[in-house]
Amino acid sequence: MQEIREVTDWIAAQEHAFHTIPEVASLPSPTFECEGRQMVSFSSNNYLALAHDSRMIAAAKFGLEKFGVANCESRLLGGDMEVYINLERKLADLKGKESAMLFATGYLTNLGVLSALPKSGMLPRAYGFRPSKRHKYAYFSDESNHTSIREGIALSGIPKATYRHCDMEDLRSKLKASTASTKIIVSDGVFSMDGDIAPLPEILSIADEFDATVYIDDAHGTGVLGENGAGIGEHFGVNSSRLISMGTLSKAYGAIGGFIATESYISQTLRFTSSAFGFTSTVPPDQAFAVSTALDIVRNEPERRKRLWDNQRYFVEKVEALGMPLVAKETCIVPVMVGDEEKCETYAHVLGSHGYHVDSIIYPAVKRGKARLRFNMNAHHTHAQIDGLVEVLAAGR
Ligand SMILES: Cc1ncc(COP(=O)(O)O)c(C=O)c1O
Repeated sequence: MQEIREVTDWIAAQEHAFHTIPEVASLPSPTFECEGRQMVSFSSNNYLALAHDSRMIAAAKFGLEKFGVANCESRLLGGDMEVYINLERKLADLKGKESAMLFATGYLTNLGVLSALPKSGMLPRAYGFRPSKRHKYAYFSDESNHTSIREGIALSGIPKATYRHCDMEDLRSKLKASTASTKIIVSDGVFSMDGDIAPLPEILSIADEFDATVYIDDAHGTGVLGENGAGIGEHFGVNSSRLISMGTLSKAYGAIGGFIATESYISQTLRFTSSAFGFTSTVPPDQAFAVSTALDIVRNEPERRKRLWDNQRYFVEKVEALGMPLVAKETCIVPVMVGDEEKCETYAHVLGSHGYHVDSIIYPAVKRGKARLRFNMNAHHTHAQIDGLVEVLAAGR
């Protein structure tokens, strides 16, 4: 543990590379209390401000009172419940898929699915299964994909080709050069550090060309993109049997959990072959009830999404008027490029001292010299809060 002690001391001595984590006394909705002060969060993924919605709380209370605080068992053994099955049905319908599979978190979903997909035949082999031929898998992953995607792919032990961010020509050339018989393209839907959207229609048409499967992590699109909040597929008006759609329940739906929506044959197999499904417990029942309610609210109250997008546009216009460079302006993640890490950390600190919590995104989350302030917009932000934030931004230019 000597090295860990040394690392701990080293981190403590760094002024800018590791910012201090604020001690929060209440959760952002989007205002919150931190170290005795009222703050406004431009950091939370609680995009639709549902985490504190009274109907969500009532649904969670119902789950708590009926089932207690957790299910304490794998769903494969004795921990399965009607509420999980009903929630999976709703999630499948949302994504226009045959079935869905629930995991404890979004992170675990990526880890559990991407690591297990290419190993689907391993467990059945032990019981006598023999595939019709030798299958050779390969992953094709956007360079800006989320860490959980990168780690899930690494765990699979399967070759990976990384293509340049959203560069379809590079993706095509990597697919062309591959001799794999099962090709899986993996991309964030909305990129969490850049705030841009993957070109899904192009990805699907390239997948058709190369007979590939497409796995899209729609953590930041589900609930907010598309007319009904169904996410990136609805945003572009596309769907495909090739598409495995992943989402989280910890962002627009204000709770915790993750899922994939896919063809039934894939989820049927993964239920037995993904350790992150079978060898662990799942979302507590109260959260499953809350998410189920969140799905209804998001579908029935488009005005929430409208407010979110109005705020997004209001903020984008103001920042553009200041002449500050935006990394992207298509989603509720709006990063402003700063470049220098130290400057970015200082900027975030100044914003914090004025009561605005904003994420400073620095290396290794993004490349060196590409540090940025990341603003997550919220349906409950007021124009006055956005004006106040922009005023501090303008003063620090
Ligand atoms: C793109 C993306 N995928 C997956 C995750 C993990 O989701 P969760 O926080 O629900 O585990 C995140 C979390 O920030 C994310 O941004």
